[in-house]
Amino acid sequence: MNKDLWRFDYNQGVAYEEFSRCQDAFGIIDGYLSSQYDFKGKTILEVGAGSGKFTSFLSRECSKLYVVERSTSLMQINRDKNLGANNVEFMLTDARDLIILPSSVDLIFAGWSLTSMRDSFDIVFRKLGDILRADGMILAIENAGNDEFCELLGINEFTEGMRSTYADLGFFSRTVVGTVIRLPRKGVFYNAFPGKWNVKLPSLDIQHNVSVLEMTASVLQHQKG
Ligand SMILES: C[S@@+](CC[C@H](N)C(=O)[O-])C[C@H]1O[C@@H](n2cnc3c(N)ncnc32)[C@H](O)[C@@H]1O
Repeated sequence: MNKDLWRFDYNQGVAYEEFSRCQDAFGIIDGYLSSQYDFKGKTILEVGAGSGKFTSFLSRECSKLYVVERSTSLMQINRDKNLGANNVEFMLTDARDLIILPSSVDLIFAGWSLTSMRDSFDIVFRKLGDILRADGMILAIENAGNDEFCELLGINEFTEGMRSTYADLGFFSRTVVGTVIRLPRKGVFYNAFPGKWNVKLPSLDIQHNVSVLEMTASVLQHQKG
């Protein structure tokens, strides 16, 4: 697998946030999560939360939310969007250096963030395994591939490789949901992916397949040996 693919400068906070707002234009993912999972009363850790695509949704549903993000600019946008949420604790740190009580979290949520951590999966999953309660779960959203978005970015093969990596790690693929990235103008895409100026966008709607992945704490513990 080409590990150099899918690098993104997350310090470009504004460009990322503009693009992020266009993802899942019809709220299919939030709707699916609400209908399938019970977050009530739970303590959740959102890892790689970025500018907060899922932070408001999660904080509304759960009792306590730790928001972990290492990019200062994305974290600031996220904080600004969630000023009134007093069950949220923002932690500006690299997930690998996260300090949080062992076995203190019911659910770890990762929205399009684990793939960014692929070079350190051993450290990251050891850390997450320590934090998660014995009956807890990691819930991850990742690109499913075989769609227009991955085709435009030229990452279908890469995404296919990541899918098998997640399966090898012990993730169970709960479902693939079809979503739409609806751009207000094409520049939003090009600003978010500056290396893709040569890509021709056929329209302002981009079809995007998204995987919902689960890994139980017991599978994670088993891996740690
Ligand atoms: C594709 S973005 C997803 C952001 C957000 N969850 C969303 O859905 O828009 C990946 C995020 O993971 C963060 N990230 C990557 N590696 C990280 C690490 N080791 N520790 C903390 N955050 C990390 C990046 O800074 C970025 O905000």
